[in-house]
Amino acid sequence: SSVYAQTYVLNADSAIDVVSGKLISPATVVVEDNKIISVGKSNRKAYPKDAEVIDLSGHTLLPGLFDMHVHLTSDAHVHGYKRLQRTAPRAAITGVRNAKRTLDAGFTSVRNLGAAGYADIALRDAIIDGDVSGPRVNAAGPSLGITGGHCDNNLLTHEHKVFSEGVADGPWAVRQKVRENIKYGANLIKFCATGGVLSKGTKVGAQQYSQEEMTAIVTEAHLRGLTVAAHAHGTDGIKSAIKAGVNSVEHVSFVDDEAIQLAKDKGTYFSMDIYNTEYILGEGEKAGILPESLDKERKVGATQRASFTKAVKAGVNMVFGSDAGVYPHGDNGKQFSRMVKFGMTELQALQAATINSATLLKQNTQLGSLEVGKLADIIAVKGNPLKDISVMENVIFVMKDGKVEKQ
Ligand code: ARG
Repeated sequence: SSVYAQTYVLNADSAIDVVSGKLISPATVVVEDNKIISVGKSNRKAYPKDAEVIDLSGHTLLPGLFDMHVHLTSDAHVHGYKRLQRTAPRAAITGVRNAKRTLDAGFTSVRNLGAAGYADIALRDAIIDGDVSGPRVNAAGPSLGITGGHCDNNLLTHEHKVFSEGVADGPWAVRQKVRENIKYGANLIKFCATGGVLSKGTKVGAQQYSQEEMTAIVTEAHLRGLTVAAHAHGTDGIKSAIKAGVNSVEHVSFVDDEAIQLAKDKGTYFSMDIYNTEYILGEGEKAGILPESLDKERKVGATQRASFTKAVKAGVNMVFGSDAGVYPHGDNGKQFSRMVKFGMTELQALQAATINSATLLKQNTQLGSLEVGKLADIIAVKGNPLKDISVMENVIFVMKDGKVEKQ
């Protein structure tokens, strides 16, 4: 170890090994530079002598959290026609604030599933460069979608000739769009397989891309080493996306037994934003959400929660995905208690937001658990989340890459 190394000793009541589910208590985690160098029962004699000791008594240590579905450049109070007033530069600036809020909520890694103007990629790079603070951002750039579909912008009449940047129809056009997103820095691909709640004029249950197009997107992305996330509420679209080989399906509202079996066979992850419905129905009208979208939400919310229960029971691979940006950034952790309410154990909910997400991103040798050799993304909450999951709504300490970001 170098004489210049920054060493931290974190002393807490306990630490959760999210892989085994075991509670280590009392716990000491030692960090040198950006790596975890020891995890175990407290042992004062073992402290490196120039270490900075952080007292987290009364608290539980966990690995940094992952939210697999956010839109950092979107704001919860700007919906519907209000979004037409937002330029990509304006969105990037709000993204700076939202990135900090997300990090402060304990989420040290996110997937940003769609942004106009490659604003998410600019934000990711600004965080990497140290210009602003935020989580590790895995960014999709503009989401791919059919003309007039959920990932298009359908708010204006044809005279205005407005299309979202990710619109592409046909197998070669979608492959070209994947290549374009990679050219401009995307490190994953997002596409819309079905209609959605918040888009104008789309049927939430109806498939949009054909099987042929979805297969083309996934084949091209995988060829280039990128993972793929598919937005899908409707049953047929969910199945086609899984058959195409997507790494995760988002929302998964109208799932059936066949789709659940397909996901299990293929190892597909489900990322289900089951807190979202409470915000949309409670605050959505004020925020500008269209009346037709509120109607769609009334048909989706409860069904999605029942689908979540079924998928958990069946043993589908589950990750934590909130769709924050639709609702306020920083409130991501509110979804934990809903995940437990609708069928997960506390440990399963924590695994969804840590080791499972890291595995989906193929980052599990580096992140996702408190293990020697992994990157030092560490958070602390008051009390014990295995007993009361709602403590995840109040993260009091955040370290990312060995740097203290919140204390
Ligand atoms: N972005 C998603 C859509 O517009 C949000 C769905 C929210 N509703 C829900 N019940 N999860 O389709």
